[in-house]
Amino acid sequence: MSVVKTLGQFIIEKQKDFPYAKGELSRLLRDIGIASKIVNREVNKAGLVDILGEVGTYNTHGESQKKLDVFANDQFISALTIGGECCIVVSEENDEPVYISSDVSKNARYIVAIDPLDGSSNIDVNVSVGTIFSIYRRLSTEGPAKIEDALQNGTEQVAAGYVVYGSSTMLVYTTGKGVNGFTLDPSIGEFCLSHPDMKIPKDGFIYSLNEGNYVHFPQGVKNYLKYCQAEDIETKRPYSSRYIGSMIADVHRNLLKGGIFIYPSTASAPRGKLRLVYEGNPMAFIIEQAGGKASNGFQRILDTEVESLHQRSPIFMGSENMVLKVEELMSIHSPELAPKEMM
Ligand code: AHG
Ligand code: MN
Ligand code: MN
Repeated sequence: MSVVKTLGQFIIEKQKDFPYAKGELSRLLRDIGIASKIVNREVNKAGLVDILGEVGTYNTHGESQKKLDVFANDQFISALTIGGECCIVVSEENDEPVYISSDVSKNARYIVAIDPLDGSSNIDVNVSVGTIFSIYRRLSTEGPAKIEDALQNGTEQVAAGYVVYGSSTMLVYTTGKGVNGFTLDPSIGEFCLSHPDMKIPKDGFIYSLNEGNYVHFPQGVKNYLKYCQAEDIETKRPYSSRYIGSMIADVHRNLLKGGIFIYPSTASAPRGKLRLVYEGNPMAFIIEQAGGKASNGFQRILDTEVESLHQRSPIFMGSENMVLKVEELMSIHSPELAPKEMM
């Protein structure tokens, strides 16, 4: 007899790992799981919108079809509002924090940061996209939640996860006690535990970065690329290059197979492109919990001082030995890019 464990069952079972937990975090994770199933449904029929005529229907009312990243943002915010455990949502899609002040949220103790749809430029071409989320405990103890509650460093995350809408849909999350992955079984509409206690290999043979930006890369990254492409039988080089262009999908593949994902600073973007609060920190938490390493080229991403909601960070994450190698080359060839506090 095969025993299927659903995400809901797993979350309840794990609640006992947190002696003082009152079930709020479990409910929050459940709400995120529900919203992601709705987003999954829409992502799956993205190509059908024109055929089904929904755009026409909306046009009659003077509303254009919402972009899927806005749709996903609305779904997560409304699930978190109805759920009642979240007081602030920080989202890529909203310049300002979204304060939730419904009756049910009066005593809400959690802050959620989300990238509702990561890799959204891949939607039109039927390539994997995802959702990233990060959860913090509220700091202030009375009155309405404040922006400071949302500006916490990555080390303070109580949970983080992502959903990858791929050839199958998976939800992967951590509460700081390892990483577990669940695959959506569409026939029963449930995420089922399929990848317990995920671990990233210490060594990997895949590098993922947008090589088109090569001329703008720091010298340390250019040298690391040369290293990846050089022939060396003992270290199984040259490595393979794989770049999907959805961070989630690239990091997910590397988590399973071993590899490194890099989005460095460039001449025109000195802090890189990807955002720290809802992209870098949650993925760094997961990668570290899976035994990997997540760096800004010089130091742990999670140790970065969070100063603003949409701040960016260079990202080098994946198999530990690959990240160590690129850090070594960054410190030799691009020391001028090291964060000021390290100099
Ligand atoms: P988003 O769709 O949330 O804006 O994120 C896109 C990100 C990330 O998923 C991906 O790794 C990166 O942008 C791709 O950027 P390039 O096109 O510059 O390679
Ligand atoms: Mn993104
Ligand atoms: Mn996005």
